[in-house]
Amino acid sequence: MSESTAGPVESIVLNDCTTLPKIGLGTYKLRGRSGAAAVESAIRSGYRLLDSAYNYENEGSVGAGIAAAGVDRNQLRVTTKLPGRYHERDQAIPAVEESLFRAGLEYFDLCLIHWPNPKQGKYVEAWRALIELRERGLLRSIGVSNFLPEHLETLQQETGVLPSVNQLEIHPWFPQTETIAKNHELGIAVESWSPVGRQTDLQQEPLLAQVAAEVDRSVVQTLLRWHVQRGAVPIPKSSDPERQRENLSVFDFTLSDEQVDRISSLARPEGRLKGQDPAVYEEF
Ligand SMILES: NC(=O)c1ccc[n+]([C@@H]2O[C@H](COP(=O)([O-])OP(=O)(O)OC[C@H]3O[C@@H](n4cnc5c(N)ncnc54)[C@H](OP(=O)(O)O)[C@@H]3O)[C@@H](O)[C@H]2O)c1
Repeated sequence: MSESTAGPVESIVLNDCTTLPKIGLGTYKLRGRSGAAAVESAIRSGYRLLDSAYNYENEGSVGAGIAAAGVDRNQLRVTTKLPGRYHERDQAIPAVEESLFRAGLEYFDLCLIHWPNPKQGKYVEAWRALIELRERGLLRSIGVSNFLPEHLETLQQETGVLPSVNQLEIHPWFPQTETIAKNHELGIAVESWSPVGRQTDLQQEPLLAQVAAEVDRSVVQTLLRWHVQRGAVPIPKSSDPERQRENLSVFDFTLSDEQVDRISSLARPEGRLKGQDPAVYEEF
């Protein structure tokens, strides 16, 4: 197995004084032995932030990849997410305990509420459970995913505790410029999910090929750099060690403001990949 060629990834400091690397590995669809091997190769290449979820059914693979890579636990930032069906306190607590058991870990660095599920209306209860788990030391940092500003406001009003991270769908078809700014104003770090457009034809956009040629990088590196420069932490998923390394190498070049804006101009009015609007979409 080849070792890291990249230097350590820089980090940002969260509102709870923990740190978050500026790029991470998405793990949706990485499962079983091949998933564990992909996680191991990513860590060996220099990834320190791993994004998992109860609903990906892969916390075991992520944990096995971590164990095989042999990096000090305190060097890693391991994330999981609480699913919608466990928002009630008495279900949330054992769900996170089960996630830890599956991963073979003593604590998660970050646990996010996966979706707010506003029609179900229990995300404040889930948030209180995460606060309790943080107090018990099972979670170092707590955050949310797919939370709209109104949901953040409710958390603040009801508990006085704001998330450290909000993980959102962000890519050039759906740049979420104002939402990123709103989260940053509140001191909440933003992560970008589906940062390179998953398996759509985003990467085939001619404008991206043009900018990539200007900076002499691949389209995917150009895309990831766009996220980094907009202050959002991308978590690209790749099962391939070579593409994992390619995706990590985005800290030795810059895009001009004009290039960033040009990429953002790909925004579409209905830019979400699958129309998953957290105001109405629910996931359990
Ligand atoms: N919070 C949420 O609700 C939510 C929702 C969706 C996703 N997520 C998280 O965000 C992560 C990333 O999103 P995603 O998995 O939807 O999509 P993504 O990371 O935008 O795209 C992954 C796809 O891009 C390919 N790819 C990666 N690097 C490449 C490269 N350098 N060149 C060419 N192709 C490349 C991958 O193929 P290979 O694997 O073959 O390289 C895979 O098919 C997920 O894995 C998950 O952890 C969270």
